[in-house]
Amino acid sequence: MSELLLPPPVVKTTRLEFRLLEESHLNDFHAIWSNPPVAKWSTRGTSHSLEESRARMDRLFFDPEKPECLNYGVLIRASNSDITINCAMIGVIGVTSLFSPDTVEIGYIFNQSFWGHGYASEALAAYIEAYWGYAKGINFMVAKVDPLNMGSIRVLEKCGFRVVERFVGDIILPELGRRDTNLMKLDRS
Ligand SMILES: CC(C)(COP(=O)(O)OP(=O)(O)OC[C@H]1O[C@@H](n2cnc3c(N)ncnc32)[C@H](O)[C@@H]1OP(=O)(O)O)[C@@H](O)C(=O)NCCC(=O)NCCS
Repeated sequence: MSELLLPPPVVKTTRLEFRLLEESHLNDFHAIWSNPPVAKWSTRGTSHSLEESRARMDRLFFDPEKPECLNYGVLIRASNSDITINCAMIGVIGVTSLFSPDTVEIGYIFNQSFWGHGYASEALAAYIEAYWGYAKGINFMVAKVDPLNMGSIRVLEKCGFRVVERFVGDIILPELGRRDTNLMKLDRS
């Protein structure tokens, strides 16, 4: 990456607040990943223990050696105020890897109890804006999504991503077996 700023420690939207992932988020992280309907689209599948979740979460902590990877816990803000309710982290969002020198791959996952309220769409839109400001040398964002994961496809489409490629049988999901993936892409503009 040619140019990076310091990662914003907090990002706020109308209803949400992102905080850099930290140890205190572990129980909420585990609550998300230990629920099979939530984890089934991931190649890692369901987490079966707090320790397994801890290992997954540790890999998402900010690391100056891999500055393009930037992951946040998503919390709900108290309405019409600047404070954040001391409640569960409802989701995780962030760039997990560099896809090519000017392209990063994004992922997100939300607690099932909070699906259907527009939180993922609101979070992704805000994350994209924050990330473009943070990583000046990155011009594209991609997401790999199962063609049957309609909720995630919709979230990506609403934020401007479009399908650019279909990989046939390229991944094995622990709970669903061998699957195709759609590569969806967003252009900085
Ligand atoms: C995908 C996910 C993040 C969506 O979270 P969410 O907070 O419910 O998303 P939103 O409410 O912002 O938007 C969901 C959109 O998908 C639509 N949707 C949800 N399920 C759908 C389905 N089965 N078919 C068609 N559309 C669907 C909703 O109607 C909504 O669109 P709308 O705003 O136009 O009505 C959540 O389901 C999740 O965590 N899934 C498991 C992890 C995952 O799949 N991550 C992405 C991997 S690529």
